[in-house]
This record gives sequence, structure tokens and C-alpha cells, in this order.
Amino acid sequence: MNPTQLTLLERDGPLALVTLNRPEALNALSPEMLAALCDQLEALDADPQVRVIILAGDRRAFAAGSDIKSMARATSQDILRMDTIRYWQRLRQVSKPLIAAVSGYAFGGGCELALTCDLIVAAESAQFAQPEIKLGIMPGAGGTQRLAKAIGPYRAMEMVLTGEPLSARQAFDLGLVNRLVPDERLLEEARELGWLIASRPPLAVRLARQALRHGVETTLNEGLEVERRNFVQLFDTFDQKEGMAAFLEKRPPEFKGE
Ligand code: CAA
Repeated sequence: MNPTQLTLLERDGPLALVTLNRPEALNALSPEMLAALCDQLEALDADPQVRVIILAGDRRAFAAGSDIKSMARATSQDILRMDTIRYWQRLRQVSKPLIAAVSGYAFGGGCELALTCDLIVAAESAQFAQPEIKLGIMPGAGGTQRLAKAIGPYRAMEMVLTGEPLSARQAFDLGLVNRLVPDERLLEEARELGWLIASRPPLAVRLARQALRHGVETTLNEGLEVERRNFVQLFDTFDQKEGMAAFLEKRPPEFKGE
């Protein structure tokens, strides 16, 4: 598929709506999808007409994680070579407010993608999870760091070690979600929030956002490095091969601890 079709764009004055468009794989974040998303967001970041960017999936899934098919047989060396972390680093550089409009699954890299946004509007159907542990790996794009900062280390630890999801209501109660809305109002509500921010002075918005993110992230860099190192290391384990093969073969995994 042409990478440009992996994301769709709608413009409305100062608002841009970017929609992930890989519904057959629940918007799984393949390297091609991440590249298309980065290109799209960078173009919008450079466009002076755009003040706020809304990022959405479809009704069934915001995104069900990184693409397991592209990782299932990978070794640590392959993961290093694929270097998908560069896409996540590019996403972090976007300077305009990003609103995630989440409906359905925000799992693994999908949850991490929502966590790279500044605000999260969730439909009642939304579910947030870091299910990597069930595949014999761990979150590798900020999940172990940003989630702990967002909802506290204890609830984050439970999510990361069990892989079990939070409902939209639980996520809202824990402060991960700004607005919890019926599914049919998701985009309307995200746009309303977007218009409100777009009506504020752009320079103040930019600098306030920068200061707030800096404050939250000052100890993040080291955490992200440790996370990535451990994530890559897990691709040389039996359990990662087994976990991902079991997912693709639609059977329960048999982990060995090696
Ligand atoms: N990667 C690749 N393909 C995926 C996918 C993923 N992350 N998630 C779903 N799909 C595919 C499925 O393989 C399936 O494709 P086929 O029709 O070709 O078999 C299709 O999307 C629909 O999925 P399901 O049939 O599984 O849908 P479901 O409604 O029964 O289950 C689900 C939905 C619970 C989200 C389930 O798809 C699931 O568990 N997905 C995997 C979630 C996951 O483990 N994400 C973490 C990935 S690793 C990661 O993200 C690493 C990181 O931190 C950077």
C-alpha cells in the first residue's frame, strides 16, 4: 500500500485531524505506518495555519500496538536495525498540541502513541493496555515511563506486568483521560477541545506546552534508554518467538523463561 494512504487528513481552520487507516490490522503500527504518521505530523507542524492536531483511529481501534508480524521472527540485532525508535523520537519533536481521540483498542504501541499526545479524549468503548508481556516482551516506546508518570507507578506496574486493559472509565478515573464521551461524540468533543486551545494565543500555548512537557520529562530520557535497551534484549529470547508465534497462530503461548 502507498504509505500516504496509511493516514488520512482532514482540515478545519486551525484544526487538523489525522486518522490512522489500517483497519484490517486494527491500525497496527508497522514501520511504514509510523513513517507515514511522522511525515504527516511534521508537515502539519510546519504549516502555520495549523494550531492543534487531533489523532484518531477508527471505531474498533485507535491502534492495537506495534506490528507483531514485522517483529515475530526478529532478533535483538534486527530490532536495532529496524530502528523504529527514530519514529517515536520524531513524534516527540512535534511542537503543536496533539489530542488523541481514542475509541476501541489502544494497546501496546497504540497506548504509547496516545501517551505521546498532550491530551486524550476517550470514547466509552476505549480500552488502554500494555499487553506486551503476553508476547514475551515489554513496552518499548515509552509505556514503562509515561504510563507511570500519568497514572502512578503502582497502577502502571499492574498494567505492564499483567498486560490487562483499563476500561475508558478506569482510565478517566486515574487521570489518563481528559474527557470521557459516548462513542458517537468522540470526534466532536476532540474538535471542541481543539478549537478551545486554538483560540488561545499560539506563542503562549507553545511555550506553556513546552515547559509542562519539559517538567514531566526531565528524568524521562534515562528511563527511555533503559526501556529501549531491555526491549531490544528480549528479542533474543525463546519466549518472544513463542509469544508472537502463538499470537499469529491464534493459540495460547507456552513460555519457558528463556
Ligand atoms: N500487530 C499485527 N497485527 C495485529 C495486531 C498487531 N499488534 N493486532 C491485531 N492484529 C491483526 C490480527 O492479527 C488480525 O489479523 P488477521 O485477520 O489477518 O488474523 C486482525 O488484526 C484483527 O485482530 P483480531 O482478530 O485479533 O481481533 P480481536 O477483536 O479478536 O482482538 C485484540 C483484538 C485484543 C486487540 C487482539 O488483536 C490483540 O491482542 N492484538 C495484539 C495486541 C498487542 O499485543 N499489542 C502489543 C504489540 S507489541 C508492541 O506494541 C511493542 C511496543 O511497545 C513498541
